[in-house]
Amino acid sequence: MKYQLEPLYCRPWTLNGISPRLIESHYENNYGAALRRLNALTAELEALDLDATSPHLFRLMKQDETNLLNSTLLHELYFASLGGDGRVLPEAIATAIERDFGSVDRWRAEFVALATALAGGSGWVLLAYVPRDGRLINLCASDHSQALAGGIPILALDMYEHAFHIEFGANATAYIAAYMRNIDWAAAQTRYEDATNVNPPRSLEQQEFKDTPSVTVEEVQAMLAAGAPIQLIDTRPRHYSAKSPDMIAGAVWRDPERVDDWIATLSKSEPVVTFCVYGFHIGCQTATTLRAAGFDARYMSGGHFAWKAINGPVKLFESTSKL
Ligand SMILES: [Fe+2]
Repeated sequence: MKYQLEPLYCRPWTLNGISPRLIESHYENNYGAALRRLNALTAELEALDLDATSPHLFRLMKQDETNLLNSTLLHELYFASLGGDGRVLPEAIATAIERDFGSVDRWRAEFVALATALAGGSGWVLLAYVPRDGRLINLCASDHSQALAGGIPILALDMYEHAFHIEFGANATAYIAAYMRNIDWAAAQTRYEDATNVNPPRSLEQQEFKDTPSVTVEEVQAMLAAGAPIQLIDTRPRHYSAKSPDMIAGAVWRDPERVDDWIATLSKSEPVVTFCVYGFHIGCQTATTLRAAGFDARYMSGGHFAWKAINGPVKLFESTSKL
């Protein structure tokens, strides 16, 4: 693999208060060096005799590779973040920023505060879109190795000294102000639009139970907290639940293999929520059975462990039921 150098995205001569000299030095000596080192390291890694290399050395090399790769990606984005007037945001990105930060002013204050906090140190401030959450977020990375998995940065501000000291000396504040005056929002918006076309990581799909409604553990927790009249049924298999020290507070255990024995104890006027260990099968099957019998039943996705993962309240397991 040989990484290709990306041409400068912004036109340095058009920038306001940031000179071509600064951009050229940055592009050549920092971005270029990172790309060159990345290519040299990649060649070394590809030729590496793993049998003759200590795992420790290999790990260090891979760590360097991550740093360098991130450095090239972030520098490319940095240069692509400049070249506009920084003030007027096109409608789509403005709406998205207002949606996720309350207002453009609030976003700007947060972004500048993060940059100011990095002055005197080094790192990156990023505006990123997270497909999973469908929202924008400001991020701060104190070196090249810290990136948000699944986040797609659409704007980057380089707060390493090399990005400004030639011209701004230690005056990071002036540099930040100059950067803000040069943001190319039209380009940021196109990246935002591209990012929103990236599919989020796929959620678990259970084709087998696609017609059976489900609820999340957060929803069940909120229903219980609100005192909603739900019948919460722990249908973990007996061989599993009998060994388990705990169960969801507010649930009753019922043997999933003997639904016919306990179905008559349920009320048809109140919703039923079933769950099993992880939420894959038993809870879903039981909910399907109950629905077929006319109950307003659904299964809790993620099951017992999802509940534990949100730190939902538990009690000691009670197997007092004869059902
Ligand atoms: Fe840099």
